[in-house]
Amino acid sequence: MALRFEILGRFNRARAAQLTLPHFMCQTPLFMPVGTQGTIKGLTTSQLEDIGCQIILGNTYHLALRPTSELIDELGGLHKFMNWPRALLTDSGGFQMVSLLHLADITEKGVTFQSPVDGKPMLLTPEESIQIQNRIGADIIMALDDVVRTTITGPRIEEAMYRTLRWIDRCIAAAAAVSSRRCWCTVVWVATSICMGGGGDLQRDVAGFRGGGSMGWMKSVAEVAAEAERRWCNSLAIHMTISPSMSAHKRPHDQNLFGIVQGGLDPVLRDICVKGLVERNLPGYAIGGLAGGEDKDSFWRVVAQCTAALPEDKPRYVMGVGYPLDIVVCSALGADMYDCVYPTRTARFGTALVPEGVLKLKHQAMANDTRPVDITCECMVCKNYSRAYIHCLVTKDAMGSQLLSYHNLFYMMKLSRDLHSSIVEGRFPEICRGRYARYGEGGM
Ligand code: GUN
Ligand code: ZN
Repeated sequence: MALRFEILGRFNRARAAQLTLPHFMCQTPLFMPVGTQGTIKGLTTSQLEDIGCQIILGNTYHLALRPTSELIDELGGLHKFMNWPRALLTDSGGFQMVSLLHLADITEKGVTFQSPVDGKPMLLTPEESIQIQNRIGADIIMALDDVVRTTITGPRIEEAMYRTLRWIDRCIAAAAAVSSRRCWCTVVWVATSICMGGGGDLQRDVAGFRGGGSMGWMKSVAEVAAEAERRWCNSLAIHMTISPSMSAHKRPHDQNLFGIVQGGLDPVLRDICVKGLVERNLPGYAIGGLAGGEDKDSFWRVVAQCTAALPEDKPRYVMGVGYPLDIVVCSALGADMYDCVYPTRTARFGTALVPEGVLKLKHQAMANDTRPVDITCECMVCKNYSRAYIHCLVTKDAMGSQLLSYHNLFYMMKLSRDLHSSIVEGRFPEICRGRYARYGEGGM
């Protein structure tokens, strides 16, 4: 498991934690911007770092089509390809197919769909989804699940939940096969390097973890391999110290497979699914199938039920959730991670996230408004540009949506930081009642 989850503070069910992943140490609750095609639309990766973004999401389905996972692999993995040094999560692909392609058909084998590139029928199986995600090389990979909209009722919900449970075993087996192959290759590589005297840093690191720097430590390949394997498998710190000298996306145990709880709005099905996944002892769990048109009450009820039944010491990720109000409520219910296209998509339509809810920059009233988008915001956009300027650009020039995307993601990062610090400092109710309680109806 290449993940450490340490809870730093609690407030009733809410938790603030440090989530250590191979590429970054993250603070939760956290929001993950969605970079479907290997980019967060409109922002450079250094801008993402500037605003404090810790982890971003990529989509298996989109990346597999273009530029293809084989090419990403050949070019050194997605981190390198898109020049993103921090953490990455990839979704498994099935959900995107079902939500984007009406032609997708789900059977026990996997998800069949018509390629939008050449129209040919294609099949995404649980094994293939894992293999693609291995090539992409994200810190967290998601199991292939059978997703059904929450607004559907009847036996299809039950079928999808049980299929998701059957598919998790196929995903675990596929991930384990790759992981053990990589682990063995790495151990042999480390052992050989040490015994050959190669790599100054590597020697220092290994001498360090042996507890001495004398040169009498040279051992046989087998001995060093045994020690390296023991250390490697037990210590994320050593794993992270040594491994930069290897191809970053080929490290052993460097990908954490999360299972996804399905079961619609039915508490009995959700319960079966949570229990089934928890038995598999995964590094983290997601709550899926939500934010698809159900009312807020039903949505929050499912989150409350699942978070109560998931293990305390593992991260909990509510998929596809990104309205600030939902993030505050789900964090109060004990969830830790979120993703959504909403902040960047709404920016492209000229809408800014502000403490009162939203501000529509297209509105004629903005045409001569010299104030920043949000007078309380300290982002680069609010420091440098007026509402009037953005009003003039929005929908006319790419710069308009770029500036608004920057502001909106800055807003989401600040929301994540505020949630984290308020939980740690025992001020969580203040944040719920104050700043974020002003969101009106309509899901903001
Ligand atoms: N994104 C939003 N909801 C879901 C879900 O239920 N499953 C997957 N795989 N991705 C999602
Ligand atoms: Zn701003």
